[in-house]
Amino acid sequence: MVVPRVQAAIASAFGEEFRGTDPVIRPSQFADIQINAAMALARKVGLPPRDAAARIVDALELDGICTAVEISGPGFINLTFDGTWIEELLNAESRGDTASEGTAGAGREAQRVVVDYSSPNVAKEMHVGHLRTTVVGDSLVKVLEALGDTVIRQNHIGDWGTPFGMLIEHWLEIGEDSPEAALLVDDPSAFYQAARAKFDASANDEDGFAARARRRVVALQGGDAETFAIWQRLVAQSKRYFNAIYAMLGISLTDDHIAGESSYDAHLAQLCQELEELGLARISDGALCTFPAGFTARDGQPLPLIIRKSDGGYGYATTDLATIRYRVRELEADRVLYVVGAPQNVHLRMVMASARDAGWLPDTVEAVHVQIGNVLGEDGKILKSRSGAPVKLMALLDEAVDRARAVIDAGRPELTEEERAVTARQVGIGAVKYADLSVGHDTEYVFDFDRMLALNGNTGPYVQYAAARIRSILRRAGVLGDHPAAGTDTAAGTDTAGTDTAGTDTAGTDTAGTDTDGGAPATAIAVVEPAERALALHLLEYGATLEKVGELLEPHRLSTYLFELAQLFTSFYDQCPVLKSADSVRESRLALCALVLRRLSGGLELLGIETPENM
Ligand code: ARG
Repeated sequence: MVVPRVQAAIASAFGEEFRGTDPVIRPSQFADIQINAAMALARKVGLPPRDAAARIVDALELDGICTAVEISGPGFINLTFDGTWIEELLNAESRGDTASEGTAGAGREAQRVVVDYSSPNVAKEMHVGHLRTTVVGDSLVKVLEALGDTVIRQNHIGDWGTPFGMLIEHWLEIGEDSPEAALLVDDPSAFYQAARAKFDASANDEDGFAARARRRVVALQGGDAETFAIWQRLVAQSKRYFNAIYAMLGISLTDDHIAGESSYDAHLAQLCQELEELGLARISDGALCTFPAGFTARDGQPLPLIIRKSDGGYGYATTDLATIRYRVRELEADRVLYVVGAPQNVHLRMVMASARDAGWLPDTVEAVHVQIGNVLGEDGKILKSRSGAPVKLMALLDEAVDRARAVIDAGRPELTEEERAVTARQVGIGAVKYADLSVGHDTEYVFDFDRMLALNGNTGPYVQYAAARIRSILRRAGVLGDHPAAGTDTAAGTDTAGTDTAGTDTAGTDTAGTDTDGGAPATAIAVVEPAERALALHLLEYGATLEKVGELLEPHRLSTYLFELAQLFTSFYDQCPVLKSADSVRESRLALCALVLRRLSGGLELLGIETPENM
């Protein structure tokens, strides 16, 4: 919450060009926070570090904010805040006063952001990589919406190309209503493999399956109405599979967000022609290619982006060029995000570069590849099942829920069957999602159920547990009914994210001191004990944290924030009795608990994770 002030001071001390400097704020043993920027700045401005620190301090406007500002050691700046100032800010947040400092998105210009995520392939199993782009993408859209952006979700499914001849023929042969056809929904890999096997076995047979499959592709791409109708039914089956996964995960994508590869097909020929006319594409080894600057192959030769194969067919790159143009022209994006596996980085950067060259992606539009790192098995290789086949995602999610269920059955036998089932789903799915969200999106990590379900450490269950614990405290205090909006919290999960952070979420209104009878003014929070102060200061960083996530597109900053909040709450609760305190102290601490709960459950919701009622 002081970052903009420190940056303003740095700019006024050393010049505007330094405004973007990271103030490097850390917790301090001797004060509330420590600003460590002077050391790095000193070198750049040619001053001894302590002098650089003194210049920053001179320029800092902290009237009414700090009671002490000290320079220590080689040039640390220690700030001690005025307790009244902390209380005022905190209480403004507790009241849900959107005008208070620290409200996410307040000083930020809203943008139109197109987010491409999930994007699985028809008649193929979604793999853990797709799971991760789905989870990370869904969190990013929620955070950006909470910050005030207009977000346009685009699910760029792989629903076009040569394999569809074979898939359609296979589907017709086994019968659309057959059990083998149902595999499209339950086990798409098996369906694909069956079609593939038939195709390979008949490769040399002039009038066999493979020949029919090839004719089928020609009919499909030639716009044959009957073939097109069959293809549509086949894609619809695959959507059922995607939607089952999305429902299980609580993902906000619907059929309305699907804009698959097929939807760009009609524009590809024209697009290639335009690129040729612009002088950006030329024939190389029979294929039409662009050669965007800065991309070279190992041998130093310019790297081609193939936009029309030598057989006349269009590919993934052509479609992506049409896609990026559409997102800028028709969807009017200010920012286009590709939440896509890291291995596609060169492809996407070449597409962006060619689109810039063609004038389809102007400098005013930012295009970013949010690279998703691989999820590995315990052997350090891409996660596979024991047989070597791709892991079935639904089975993986079921296992997470089963494991969570076993823990809850053992630990909370007094809960009803129904309650335990709900919590198990929330914890199991939450743990898997949190694992994807708690490390940098571009880093690889090992998929490990034991680690992700652990109640200790930076895990989903740890953060969920802190929130569930507060709910139980508030219930015992009688400020949270037994069945308040607990249910709506999760049901409203997908599209109310925006309003949540403005302090209108259900957990907030229930508990922010409005009491069960409602209408009573919010109790003022007094910040007295060191543990209360540490918790308060962290609470005030919520808005800035969301803004950082939106700027850098890094949801793990939010999970780190929530993990720390849960830890700070735990030490507060160890050191400061809540229910056993009397009168105003009790009221104040309950209001503090309520605000922590609101931030924990609101933050988890932006990560797409539910907050269990009981755990
Ligand atoms: N369907 C692709 C895959 O499974 C991902 C598509 C990503 N989006 C894009 N515009 N290329 O790898």
